[in-house]
Order: sequence, then C-alpha cells, then structure tokens
Amino acid sequence: MFELKYHTPFSWTEAVMADFDTFLQDHAAAEKKASGMAMSMLSHYPDRRKLVKAMTDLALEEMIHFKQVLKLLIDRDVNLGNDQKDPYVKKIRAVFRNGRDEFFMDRLLVGAVIEARGHERFSLVAQALPDGKEKEFYAAIAKSEEKHKNLFVELAYEYFDKNEVDIRLEEILIAEAEICKNIPFTAALH
Ligand SMILES: [Fe+2]
Ligand SMILES: [Fe+2]
Repeated sequence: MFELKYHTPFSWTEAVMADFDTFLQDHAAAEKKASGMAMSMLSHYPDRRKLVKAMTDLALEEMIHFKQVLKLLIDRDVNLGNDQKDPYVKKIRAVFRNGRDEFFMDRLLVGAVIEARGHERFSLVAQALPDGKEKEFYAAIAKSEEKHKNLFVELAYEYFDKNEVDIRLEEILIAEAEICKNIPFTAALH
C-alpha cells in the first residue's frame, strides 16, 4: 500500500535484544496508547459511523495486544513499566494541521504511518528472536499492525479525495523518516 521512507537497519535489534525486558515494557505501553488513541478517535468523530466501528474494533484489538505483551512480561517475572514519553510520537504529532478536515486527515495518516513503523520493527524483532513463543508472537503482531496500517489509509480514502490523501501521505512519510532516523536506538519500539 505504501512504503516507509526510512528503513530501520537490522542492527536496531541489537539494542532491543540487549534489554528485552525493557523493550517488552515499552511495547506494552505502546499497545495501551494505541488503544487509547483509537478510543480518542471515535470520541472525537461520533457522527462518522464507519470510523466509529473501525476504531471500536481497533481499540479492542490493541488491548488484546497489550494483554499478550503483559503475559510475556509476567512469564519473565517482570512488572509493567512506568509510562515514558515517546519522543517519536510527540514529534510526529507536530505535523497535525489545524482545521477540522485537515486535522482529521492527518490523524488518520499519522496513524497509518505509526502502524507501518510498528509492522516494520516487530518484523525485525521476530527475525532476531530465537525460535519460541516470543518469536511467534512478534511474527503474528507484525501482521496485525500491517492490517492496521492499511485500515487507516482505507479510512482516509473513505472520507477524502484519494489524490489529496496520497499527496499528504507522501509529506507525512518524509517527515516521519526524518524524525525516526534521528532517534538513537534503545530497547524501545521508537
Ligand atoms: Fe498493536
Ligand atoms: Fe496497531
């Protein structure tokens, strides 16, 4: 559907594998925030039926992801971490334009790009992990985040002109690549 403009090198997984417990804590927080973001979307646009339905399903699915990551943490005898500020999400939110329609389109497209980054990085984690339940989980979650990426773009096409969406998506992809490549690698999703 679309390609990210910065490709995370496989060496990123070294930081993740060096402290996998911390990575799992960060991942759990990211899933919880993704669910909250979906609920915030449906609360802001109650008259957009297709969006409300899609965001209801998404909020539930992201909470299931959270529950699955929580299970991995508990199996490793690690507690849930404190929420940390996600510099990537904070920076990417700065691209949001004012205006009801512009803001709505940007929220959808930023959602798509964040999901795409999740898909990319969870795929890398799946590749880096040794055979076992954690590897299987990351392969499955990568596929799920790819579906979410497509969902957000489909929703944008539903509510806006395709050409306008494609132009704005290109701009957001360029901004996201610039943000992402400047964040040092740590045991975190972003
Ligand atoms: Fe998720
Ligand atoms: Fe997702």
